[in-house]
Amino acid sequence: MMLKFWILVVCLLAANFCRKVQSDSQHGSSESSDSSDSSEETIQAIVTLRIQNSLDPDWPSAEYNVSVPVATSVFDMMVAADEEFDNFTFDATYFPQFAGHFIDSINGLAGNSDDQTFWRFENKYGVAFDRGVDLILVHANDDVIVFTFASWATGHP
Ligand SMILES: *[C@@H]1O[C@H](CO)[C@@H](O)[C@H](O)[C@H]1NC(C)=O
Ligand SMILES: *[C@@H]1O[C@H](CO)[C@@H](O)[C@H](O)[C@H]1NC(C)=O
Repeated sequence: MMLKFWILVVCLLAANFCRKVQSDSQHGSSESSDSSDSSEETIQAIVTLRIQNSLDPDWPSAEYNVSVPVATSVFDMMVAADEEFDNFTFDATYFPQFAGHFIDSINGLAGNSDDQTFWRFENKYGVAFDRGVDLILVHANDDVIVFTFASWATGHP
């Protein structure tokens, strides 16, 4: 529990910083609510959610193409995938003090502080996101979100 909390703190401190910079620079040009019939104009993106295990090559990796409105958070995309696919499941813990979720398990496999394992969250190039699943938004059909079961002890399994 402490570990999760710690990882989340680091992610969310970075997130807060990014958000602040973003909102400072976007001031004045933020999404206007003028565009009416936005419900009819909701643009969908088909985003690929890839699940893999860097510690056990025999663990079945999986890929899901999830259709969600543009600018859906990764967390909401996972909720959508959970509803759409019988063979995708996940558990998350919500930390109200950071308004963010920590991913506990995916497809029945949970990170564990005794084993020093967790679900790493990264883009298709293997670059870890600097923010939590609630703050990364998916935008385009070729977006790929990768969750890799990994060890935080070695850093680079
Ligand atoms: C998950 O289920 C879908 C059908 O709903 C199937 O097309 C897909 O191959 C399955 N994926 C895995 C990894 O089992
Ligand atoms: C998801 O979409 C990509 C791009 O269209 C395709 O290459 C891939 O096979 C699809 N994967 C699944 C599991 O449907």
